[in-house]
Amino acid sequence: MENTQPKKRILSGIQPSGALTLGNYVGALRNFAELQKENEYECFYMIADLHSITVKQVPKELRKNSLDLLALFLACGLDGEKDPIFYQSHVPAHAQLGWVLDCCTYFGELSRMTQFKDKSRKHADNINAGLFTYPSLMAADILLYQSDLVPVGHDQKQHLELTRDIANRFNNTYSDTFKVPEPYIPKIGAKIMSLQNPAQKMSKSDPNENSYILLLDPIDRVVSKIKKAVTDSEACVRRGEGKEGVENLMSIYSAATGKTMDEIENEFAGRGYGDFKAAVAESVVEILKPIQAKYNDLIKNKDYLEKIYRSGAERAAYVANKTVSKVYRKIGFIQP
Ligand code: TRP
Repeated sequence: MENTQPKKRILSGIQPSGALTLGNYVGALRNFAELQKENEYECFYMIADLHSITVKQVPKELRKNSLDLLALFLACGLDGEKDPIFYQSHVPAHAQLGWVLDCCTYFGELSRMTQFKDKSRKHADNINAGLFTYPSLMAADILLYQSDLVPVGHDQKQHLELTRDIANRFNNTYSDTFKVPEPYIPKIGAKIMSLQNPAQKMSKSDPNENSYILLLDPIDRVVSKIKKAVTDSEACVRRGEGKEGVENLMSIYSAATGKTMDEIENEFAGRGYGDFKAAVAESVVEILKPIQAKYNDLIKNKDYLEKIYRSGAERAAYVANKTVSKVYRKIGFIQP
């Protein structure tokens, strides 16, 4: 019998602010694809271009990064025919609800956001109003789709809590309007650290290129970066105090192969770091090769990409516009 119960909704987004790392794949994109395959959810995956201009962007690069990110979404296994994949700027409802939610969010709340404080420090010459109200726009992204679940990394958890507060506040003031979403924080092992300083998260903004692996890095670069990864002088593949570098490589290997940390310790018992790093590199290359091949195909096929993002925006707007109409009515705007 056909299931008539509407599917639960997922919404998540990634900013098109540069190349993606292996950490982005393991921590976000791969989960996006898996959640979509489960078939339990209708998944709205968004390229958050409106969010990206809260820091300075070069227009030409933003355009390239935005198209690249769509091709990478698809190359990493997201299905843009089944569910909408779209650009945030193509669905005006985001900006519309964003403004309303700006007016439902307190200065004090936004002032407490750690990402705002971090980014203000990093971009001291451009602490613009958008950077400050960024979390209200993110709340709009989520609430527009009446999302049940939002897969995010740890760094976005605070924004999601604020989203829940804003939703509850609106619902209490104007009657039930928004679904209050739950965060979906991926299981442990998903956080990939810098190859050069395992106390820090792997990030493409790190000035040392050897500290991160990009999804589109040439394969020989990937191998050499893993060979250069910091370890320790014990030459034993195990977890432990002072072994954060090895542990990070173990996490990467675990993420790539599905093996547990215990299984990895057993596999490499009595073997040195040379062997271990070669195996880690091979496992990562095995993941990246098909992604790169698909990306290279897709990025040449502009018509197909256009078809995906157009139909994505259309389907997203259909849902989002309904929410905006409801909100506008509830707050007392004259119906157009
Ligand atoms: N702020 C998120 C980030 O920088 C990107 C984002 C924008 C997002 N809107 C969202 C994530 C809505 C989840 C849901 O990573």
